[in-house]
Amino acid sequence: MTQQYGIIGWPLGHTMSPTLHNWGFGKLGINGVYDAFPLEPTDVSAFMERVRTEPISGMSVTIPHKRAVMDSLDHITDRAKAVGAVNTLYWDGDTLCGENTDVVGLIAPLKKLDTLPNSAMVLGAGGAARAAITGFKELGIDDISVSNRTAEKTQTLANEFSVKAVAWEDRMDAAPELICNTTPLGMAGDMETMTPWDKDRFPAECIAYDIIYNPLQTRFLREAEEAGCVVLSGLEMFLHQGLAQFKLWTGQDMNEDGARQLLLNALKS
Ligand code: ATR
Repeated sequence: MTQQYGIIGWPLGHTMSPTLHNWGFGKLGINGVYDAFPLEPTDVSAFMERVRTEPISGMSVTIPHKRAVMDSLDHITDRAKAVGAVNTLYWDGDTLCGENTDVVGLIAPLKKLDTLPNSAMVLGAGGAARAAITGFKELGIDDISVSNRTAEKTQTLANEFSVKAVAWEDRMDAAPELICNTTPLGMAGDMETMTPWDKDRFPAECIAYDIIYNPLQTRFLREAEEAGCVVLSGLEMFLHQGLAQFKLWTGQDMNEDGARQLLLNALKS
């Protein structure tokens, strides 16, 4: 029987997840199909019943459902608990589990660097910022700070994760070795020409990491590169969170280089 997988979110808009997972199923000869399920917030608990009664083998979960699904699960991994959000549903026997692969996705490109940064500043205080802080802690980065437009949220996050809070207007006075943008500034659409960092304020030799992948090179990354920084695109996070989901669901590894090329082609078309 064909195994059903998919993604829930609202509004779901365009997502590259079906492209990635269906390609993986095809390449590895797995009888699976991955569909997009746009799902309004009021329908989450009914959908979670469907997950238990229909032959659904796994789901990706995106905004705004990453917290809401947690109430309907039998088990939540320690990592997902630490983030406070679930982006992956999978079965362990009859146990419906929730994991957060955004964390491994986010830190995967950092693990490939020759040396890890000693300090990191996370811009933004939403779900992606929570995954970033969790990931940087897992990597052993000691000096982590968070800066967000709304001061109250900065402080809440800083208290919860025991990291430093930096006022939004003071963010560029710090000199972190890694700057990670989790805000939508620079994203395709109305915010594409925006950036969370002035081009002449990048610390020398810092790493600029944008979790946005559309466009592939945001203004933040372009200006960071021009300033001599190492740059990391959000495509790597998207790719690696997806590879980790696929592994949880099928026990198999998708070909990383092939999958990256697939996504690059999809973004260029
Ligand atoms: P996600 O779950 O993907 O992280 P989110 O929860 O909507 O998304 O968080 C987006 C973050 O980007 C928020 O911290 C938001 O700041 P506020 O807490 O002040 O809302 C930040 N953000 C959104 N638009 C922004 C803008 N124009 N300038 C600066 N920060 C912005």
